[in-house]
Amino acid sequence: MMSKICSTSLAVLITIYFSCYNSIVAAPAPSNESEASALLRSGWWPSSVTGNTTLSHCAWDGVSCDASGSIYGIDLWGYQIGGNLSNMNFSLLPSLTYLRLSYTGLVGEIPLLICTLSRLTELELSDNSITGKLPPCLLSLTSLQVLDIRWNRITGSIPLIVGRLHNLRLLSFGSNQLVGSIPLELGNLTKMEVVVLNDNNFTGPIPSSIGNLTSLTELILYGNNLSGSIPPEIGNLRNLTYLYLQENKLGGSIPPEIGNLTSLTYLYLQENKLVGSIPPEIGNLTSLTHLYLQ
Ligand SMILES: *[C@@H]1O[C@H](CO)[C@@H](O)[C@H](O)[C@H]1NC(C)=O
Ligand SMILES: *[C@@H]1O[C@H](CO)[C@@H](O)[C@H](O)[C@H]1NC(C)=O
Ligand SMILES: *[C@@H]1O[C@H](CO)[C@@H](O)[C@H](O)[C@H]1NC(C)=O
Ligand SMILES: *[C@@H]1O[C@H](CO)[C@@H](O)[C@H](O)[C@H]1NC(C)=O
Ligand SMILES: *[C@@H]1O[C@H](CO)[C@@H](O)[C@H](O)[C@H]1NC(C)=O
Ligand SMILES: *[C@@H]1O[C@H](CO)[C@@H](O)[C@H](O)[C@H]1NC(C)=O
Ligand SMILES: *[C@@H]1O[C@H](CO)[C@@H](O)[C@H](O)[C@H]1NC(C)=O
Ligand SMILES: *[C@@H]1O[C@H](CO)[C@@H](O)[C@H](O)[C@H]1NC(C)=O
Ligand SMILES: *[C@@H]1O[C@H](CO)[C@@H](O)[C@H](O)[C@H]1NC(C)=O
Ligand SMILES: *[C@@H]1O[C@H](CO)[C@@H](O)[C@H](O)[C@H]1NC(C)=O
Ligand SMILES: *[C@@H]1O[C@H](CO)[C@@H](O)[C@H](O)[C@H]1NC(C)=O
Repeated sequence: MMSKICSTSLAVLITIYFSCYNSIVAAPAPSNESEASALLRSGWWPSSVTGNTTLSHCAWDGVSCDASGSIYGIDLWGYQIGGNLSNMNFSLLPSLTYLRLSYTGLVGEIPLLICTLSRLTELELSDNSITGKLPPCLLSLTSLQVLDIRWNRITGSIPLIVGRLHNLRLLSFGSNQLVGSIPLELGNLTKMEVVVLNDNNFTGPIPSSIGNLTSLTELILYGNNLSGSIPPEIGNLRNLTYLYLQENKLGGSIPPEIGNLTSLTYLYLQENKLVGSIPPEIGNLTSLTHLYLQ
């Protein structure tokens, strides 16, 4: 049995995109030797599974095959594989559309071979001990809609060409050791709904191009070293529900345009270097239930 853990932390963010999946595998599909060997050699499944010769790899925990027997999904969320991403030969899995490996005890770096997964729409690697930098080739995976590497030990900066991932809806790099600025090019990703960059060491300003992301519902940037003032363009984000900018070095005054964010429910700005008075427009935020400004 695959162990199932439902996340309760960061609940709101997570429940949008993650639920507990049951890997119910239907009719037996034809077996594909090269894909089966990639799975076998990864070491991600225990011998009780791999050693069962009556069990097709398409019926292994978390594996989904299409009618032709090609693997289109791997979801081992919460399953302690304790492995290494480098042990999977991703170039043998060209049909893969989702790879969900959060809470699996993964170590090691993100291998370049992962960039051969040209059909990938979801890459979820959160809550592991992955080290090293983000390989820039990840940005060739332009079908990606969900890129979640929260809670790892990733270093380096966000590659500037992140603006190429124009299908992204969720970008979550929270709780890593990333440095550098938030790229202006992020403003190119107009389908974006959730941006999570908290608890890293990002510096520099919040780019005004963030105002282009009009589908955004969550902007989570707390616990960095962001400076400059809050860009007034943030007032364009009419669907924004969560705005977490606390624990940075943001200066200047609070832009009155924040009063345009009528969907805002959580507004956290505390522990910054903001000056001036609180704009009366904040009084227009009728959905607000949580406000910290101190
Ligand atoms: C097995 O899968 C690979 C990659 O998806 C594909 O190139 C190959 O044709 C498949 N072989 C069979 C027998 O289906
Ligand atoms: C092998 O898998 C089959 C099909 O799921 C199952 O019925 C059988 O009990 C398994 N055998 C062992 C030794 O686990
Ligand atoms: C992965 O598979 C490809 C295609 O079979 C092969 O050329 C390559 O050597 C393999 N890489 C590793 C690291 O096993
Ligand atoms: C992960 O696998 C790669 C390639 O096999 C190896 O070089 C590296 O040392 C492994 N890392 C860990 C932490 O096991
Ligand atoms: C922005 O997106 C367009 C297409 O959506 C692309 O052509 C362009 O290269 C992107 N710009 C950057 C800076 O990523
Ligand atoms: C912010 O910068 C200061 C001084 O450069 C540093 O001591 C602190 O650790 C940084 N904060 C974060 C969250 O990285
Ligand atoms: C953040 O970066 C600053 C400046 O490079 C450095 O002094 C500080 O130690 C870093 N903080 C953390 C938590 O990495
Ligand atoms: C994004 O925002 C910037 C700065 O606010 C603006 O100059 C640019 O035209 C916008 N780009 C798009 C594609 O909307
Ligand atoms: C804002 O939210 C509403 C209601 O969920 C939705 O219909 C609309 O498309 C959203 N606007 C954008 C720009 O995403
Ligand atoms: C946004 O807020 C500003 C300042 O409060 C206001 O002048 C402006 O009219 C608002 N924009 C829209 C489109 O409502
Ligand atoms: C927003 O607040 C300002 C100042 O309190 C007020 O003048 C304005 O009418 C309000 N706008 C809306 C759309 O409620």
